[in-house]
Amino acid sequence: MNVWTSEPESAAMVDAPKIKKPDLLTVEDAKALDLPHMTEYFKEHLNPGQLHFMKLLGFNKVKIESAEGMYYVDQNGRKILDFFGGFGSLAFGHNHPRILAARKAFQDEKRHEIAMAFLSQYAAALAKNLAEISPGDLDMVFLGSSGSEAMEAAIKVAERAAGPDRGKIVYAENSFHGKTKGVLSLTDSPLYRGQFRLVDNTVRVPFADIDAIRNAFEADPEIGVIVLETIQGGGGIVTAQPEFWQELRALCDKHDVLWVADEVQCGMGRSGLFYAFEYAGVVPDVTALAKSLGGGKCAMAAMIAKRDVYMKAYGKPNTALIHGPATFGGIGEACITAIEGLNILYDENLIANSAEQGAYLMTRLRQLQEKYPKIIKDVRGQGLMVGLEFQDFSQTMPLVLRPMVAILDDKLKGSLSGFIGALLLRDYDTLVAFTEYNRNVIRLEPPLICQRAHVDQFVDAMDDLLSRGIVGIVKDFVASQVK
Ligand SMILES: Cc1ncc(COP(=O)(O)O)c(C=O)c1O
Repeated sequence: MNVWTSEPESAAMVDAPKIKKPDLLTVEDAKALDLPHMTEYFKEHLNPGQLHFMKLLGFNKVKIESAEGMYYVDQNGRKILDFFGGFGSLAFGHNHPRILAARKAFQDEKRHEIAMAFLSQYAAALAKNLAEISPGDLDMVFLGSSGSEAMEAAIKVAERAAGPDRGKIVYAENSFHGKTKGVLSLTDSPLYRGQFRLVDNTVRVPFADIDAIRNAFEADPEIGVIVLETIQGGGGIVTAQPEFWQELRALCDKHDVLWVADEVQCGMGRSGLFYAFEYAGVVPDVTALAKSLGGGKCAMAAMIAKRDVYMKAYGKPNTALIHGPATFGGIGEACITAIEGLNILYDENLIANSAEQGAYLMTRLRQLQEKYPKIIKDVRGQGLMVGLEFQDFSQTMPLVLRPMVAILDDKLKGSLSGFIGALLLRDYDTLVAFTEYNRNVIRLEPPLICQRAHVDQFVDAMDDLLSRGIVGIVKDFVASQVK
């Protein structure tokens, strides 16, 4: 018997007309693609505009062949230190052995994936774990596949719980909550908003400005929800004082407004606590995780709401499916990946490690700031979510450099972060990330397995690069462009 068709082996598919197979690349073809072909397909079929930026930074010259722990390995066997960390998606580093083993066992045991018909033991266990970890009565979980999807779920559950008369949502300047159309309305970027027609029930305030929030709440009784990243990532790694969150909690309670904390990037231990809002000792009404929840191996995201908020929104049989399970929400292997990841986080003490290595990284970067005050403007962050801000040279760029910089792209003009990111990769085998809105900031989000030696490797590379001085850095970057 053929297990795939339930037909006797000999009868399987004998008479079906053969459909001609298109000229498809195989998995082995994909792994073996060379850079010219990768570039061609990227340009023809993925994103030609993005290729422009990759070329500018020299990232297009690298083909990653494997990745392990803190490092990528490229086509030449070069090990690249990963301080980018997939914008916070790689808490466990690349290919953590326990995560690989859990996934392999799941496959070998031929476990099921799609959880639409039957109760899923994997989704149930993951939800139980998230409720166990989350403070207060953040007990109800919706599983999805991306940060945007988790945040869509978050604003929808909050909007429904707030009720139709309280449907306005406050969001912050320089926020980033995703690019799907609902959360795009709360993402403060004219570029990403792209002239789409967005939802109009929103109110914009400066980040972490309690007076502005109080004024908004007092002025508009229709406001029922406020959505904030606990640490702004795209905005340039911006934190708020614990007192702000405590006052926010009190204000929300007073005005009966639901607080949604976006922890997609700063959650899962990155800040040095599981949730960054825990530093303030207060609990939001709804939160969201994604990125590292997928263990660096898959797409997994979760919205976690207080039980009464969730029950108000979807607690009855006739409301349960309004924002019910998505096809891939709670998919088996992603759930066990997340379960294993959450266990590793505690077994390997990665949350405390994030706090410790993050403090060490910031101490060393502040020493660099003292050494290069004309180049480094600020060092900030929490745990292993660190921002390094350079002075803005767009107006004060030395005259000698202006013609050189003028040949470069608008986005990089006068911004040292692009030059430094490109040269860190080219000359020091080190990868860093940029931020959406503040072009002078480099974003550092290494895996939480990061050790002192990695921090030293990174800071020593930065020190050596900065010792070239601004003129040297810009010249070297421009030279890399004309080669
Ligand atoms: C704070 C925050 N929220 C939401 C998102 C959206 O996540 P995704 O790209 O997985 O849709 C991101 C992504 O960077 C993020 O940083």
